Amino acid sequence: MSIHDGTYQLHEGAYGEFKFYQKIAKESGGPVLDLATGGGRICITLAKAGITCVGMDASPHSLVIAKKAVAELPQELRGKASFIEGDMCDFNFPGRFPLIINAFESFWFILRMAAIKDLGINEYEWWLGNEQQKDNEVFMLIYQKAESCIRSIMRSLAPRGKFIIDGPISHLLFQEEKKEVAHAWWLDMADTYKFSVRFADYNDLNKSVFDLNALHRPDVVIGQKI
Ligand SMILES: C[S@@+](CC[C@H](N)C(=O)[O-])C[C@H]1O[C@@H](n2cnc3c(N)ncnc32)[C@H](O)[C@@H]1O
Repeated sequence: MSIHDGTYQLHEGAYGEFKFYQKIAKESGGPVLDLATGGGRICITLAKAGITCVGMDASPHSLVIAKKAVAELPQELRGKASFIEGDMCDFNFPGRFPLIINAFESFWFILRMAAIKDLGINEYEWWLGNEQQKDNEVFMLIYQKAESCIRSIMRSLAPRGKFIIDGPISHLLFQEEKKEVAHAWWLDMADTYKFSVRFADYNDLNKSVFDLNALHRPDVVIGQKI
């Protein structure tokens, strides 16, 4: 079995995401920065479309998989995808990207897992709902980490550059009451870090969506540096 089967072809085309990222990346002109790239699923997809992409991930193991995938690209496309180890909550590039993405609904999920770990909470107890008394602490830390990520993104975006975060709310929101808070948080970040923000339909970026009642939706948050 090739690594393509298990890694970056995983969930290929969920909500049409390969086509979605290729289109938006082409419009940006590249290069694209792919945060938490994992096995390079989206980065490799962009390279195949001729777009230069840098994938960043905190896990050396994921990066080994991503680099193997690059080696399987046709020779002339191999220079299009590169990978570096780094923390999406604290990065600084000398260059500026016209597009920064975070795919596969991983934003809040990653930050929540990191917050739980930092606070020394047992993950399984958390999922079982046995750590609810620590909720406030967890959510404060999630939002701190998220802000740090947004600050890093804004540092690395080109003027008028865009960022796309897939699944803006859903992974926080196994807790219903957090939806409104997360929505307000985005508006606050946009005001503080000077970007415009839209919640858009995956398949029609001109269509705004913000459905607080849906848990899993094909939607994205789009920020554009003002
Ligand atoms: C669900 S996978 C990513 C999937 C990938 N974006 C895609 O669309 O296929 C989540 C990834 O986030 C990475 N990750 C977790 N915390 C991170 C952090 N602070 N900075 C960068 N990457 C992180 C993990 O190592 C893992 O590879």
